[in-house]
Amino acid sequence: RKMTREKDVARGQWRSKFGFLMAAIGSAVGLGNLWGFPYKMGKSGGGAFLVVYLAVVLLVGVVIMLGELALGRKTGKGAVEAYQAVSKKFAWVGYLGVASPFIILAFYNVLGGMVLKYMVAFVESMFSGGANFANIKSGAYFGEFICNGSDMLLYLAIFELLNIVIVMSGVESGIERFNKYAIPALAIILAGLAVYVYTFPGAEKGLDFMFKPNFAVFSDPEIGFFKVLKTAAGQMFFSLSLGMGVMITYGSYLSKEQDLSREMYIIPLADTIIAVLAGMVVMPACFAFGLAPAGGPSLLFVSLHEVFVTGMGGFSGSFVGFLFYFLVFLAAISSSMSLLEVCVACLLDRQIRKGKAPTRAATTIVLALVLFVVSLPVALDGLGSNVAGGAAMNSPGVMMGLKKIPVAFDCWLDFYDMLSEGVMMPLGSLLMSVMFGWVLGTKVIADEVALTPGKKLRFEWLVDLCFKFIVPVILVVVLLAQLQDFGL
Ligand code: PFF
Ligand code: NA
Repeated sequence: RKMTREKDVARGQWRSKFGFLMAAIGSAVGLGNLWGFPYKMGKSGGGAFLVVYLAVVLLVGVVIMLGELALGRKTGKGAVEAYQAVSKKFAWVGYLGVASPFIILAFYNVLGGMVLKYMVAFVESMFSGGANFANIKSGAYFGEFICNGSDMLLYLAIFELLNIVIVMSGVESGIERFNKYAIPALAIILAGLAVYVYTFPGAEKGLDFMFKPNFAVFSDPEIGFFKVLKTAAGQMFFSLSLGMGVMITYGSYLSKEQDLSREMYIIPLADTIIAVLAGMVVMPACFAFGLAPAGGPSLLFVSLHEVFVTGMGGFSGSFVGFLFYFLVFLAAISSSMSLLEVCVACLLDRQIRKGKAPTRAATTIVLALVLFVVSLPVALDGLGSNVAGGAAMNSPGVMMGLKKIPVAFDCWLDFYDMLSEGVMMPLGSLLMSVMFGWVLGTKVIADEVALTPGKKLRFEWLVDLCFKFIVPVILVVVLLAQLQDFGL
């Protein structure tokens, strides 16, 4: 008894139920909600996409969320050792879970740094009367920034430094404490902005773009049902931080009091609401000022920049711009820290298993340095390409300086993105699903849920059906459809 308690102290534990929820929602809510979801939804059938997305969240997302949280809490271990603890055959799956964060972090931190730069620039603009944005178009401003290697590195370094400080402070005094304030703040700012954008005429057209159901996409030869499904599934994994060991790791810091049969719905629900709400800010903002809808970096760093600087303009434009990038920064860093924590936790587990005292601070710093190096191709991708202006990071011909990718991706960012959300996350989840469905049995999860006094897993038969058949079938289809993107 005393042993386990000592171990918990060494590994860390959430202080409150609310704190865990905010940390988990913080991991989920990120750039995926802000620049991925609204555009993909608008482009892939609007309301029709939403139906498919919600189905994938319910049939796949919710059960994988449950599986990860239960696996973490049951074993009290990070991704690698959690799998090793429950199954010989699947012992290696955890390594996949630790490899994926490296791939995501390689680009995620670069973007986080860029968001930070924009946040700072809008503060500067507030005090300089917009002088720093004068005489330069949004596209050119962005192009100059991403081709400026030292600026890219500087902001990447600052972003990582903030991340290090939070993660090395520990689960409770670092991650939980940050998210407890950051996530409510994010929600409030987002809701405020959603109201504010409707004071501009034409905003409603953004809602049309996003929500108007277009069921014809399912039979469209260019898009079609499988592509919509693949897009929805990839987006869902990325958005809910699944298949990466994050929820296993965060689950390992849970007490038996936390009701998993409820949190398995709350986290996906919160993430989806924020994604829809984000769409109700960014799309109307673009449409109100006559800008074409976009996704990815060009939405965040070009279109919206133009909305704040040219569209809204003046001090209020700068202030709203600052608020917006501050919100994006909170979303990005709370996701980024969860990925770093996955890797840190695995190394700390190892130290504990070997009977050493865990060295969280040193481990975090060393890992972050490794990640910094992995991010370099993305951060410096703009070097060597000459961006005259109007360029976006995700358009062909830009960010190609270091491009030596054998497949048809525009840039390193796209490549890493495809690899993670398109392949590794579905693959990791497929393996977990097979493990629970066919090897361990869903009962293991139901038993874990039932450890919370008075709670039990509802619809256990349905969860079982999902692990055994529904999730594997959907994921095999998704993975096969994905091969096309790699030109196979
Ligand atoms: N869920 C985050 C987003 O939507 O931006 C990104 C992310 C975080 C993906 C953590 C995966 C992960 F493990
Ligand atoms: Na998300």
